[in-house]
Amino acid sequence: MQLQLQTWTAVEDYLKRSTGIIVPIGSTEQHGPTGLIGTDALTAEMIARGVGEAAGALVAPTISVGMAQHHLAFPGSVTLRPTTLIAVVRDQVQSLARHGFTRFFFVNGHGGNVATVTAAFSEIYAERSLERLSNQPPIKCSLRNWWDGPGIKELSRELYGASEGSHATPSEVALTWYKYPETMKQMPMEPRVAPTGGFADAEDYRRAFPDGRIGSDPNLATPEHGKRIYETAVREVAADYTRFAKA
Ligand code: NI
Repeated sequence: MQLQLQTWTAVEDYLKRSTGIIVPIGSTEQHGPTGLIGTDALTAEMIARGVGEAAGALVAPTISVGMAQHHLAFPGSVTLRPTTLIAVVRDQVQSLARHGFTRFFFVNGHGGNVATVTAAFSEIYAERSLERLSNQPPIKCSLRNWWDGPGIKELSRELYGASEGSHATPSEVALTWYKYPETMKQMPMEPRVAPTGGFADAEDYRRAFPDGRIGSDPNLATPEHGKRIYETAVREVAADYTRFAKA
């Protein structure tokens, strides 16, 4: 159930039975020579919406631009500074909290968001703690990477082994091809499996990973894999959401 497709009266009714909401958060950044710029936002959004259907929960608008400074040496990548992303997350949570939402479940599609979104949660809690807002209901925020469940990890090992890598992975590429098959594109890549390692700023990243991939072979992806990955992720993340919303 997308928040954007509801009326305010429907949201008021929803709040009588649940105060939980799912927030997809991703990134807009290069994903290697064949992956979509929107991969991290699109995958977070499709899984969040699947979870919303499975759990009967509202899904907020996707935060599609994340913390991706290290990808800026590749055309099309867009970033928010960490401080900007903290403000975006805080304002969205506080807007919804005003209406009575108390459980904010972020479904994340981008590893580079984790530190900043976790810091945003600390800002939100600190503000409440410092102001002693004891007459307001306690709120809780949770960040769930879609690829973190045991079933997804097992499936990725089975399908791709060590060629999964950590950026422009065959798993995330397969998900986008499942949902947007018209965007499928393959080409030879050299080396077949990209190098791994660390990075600092955007120039450093591009020097270390010239075609944008880290540790991955996205040519292994298929739309059929994407369907299995989607179904497994939705099942695992929905179970986590349901537990979290009740806690
Ligand atoms: Ni990604």
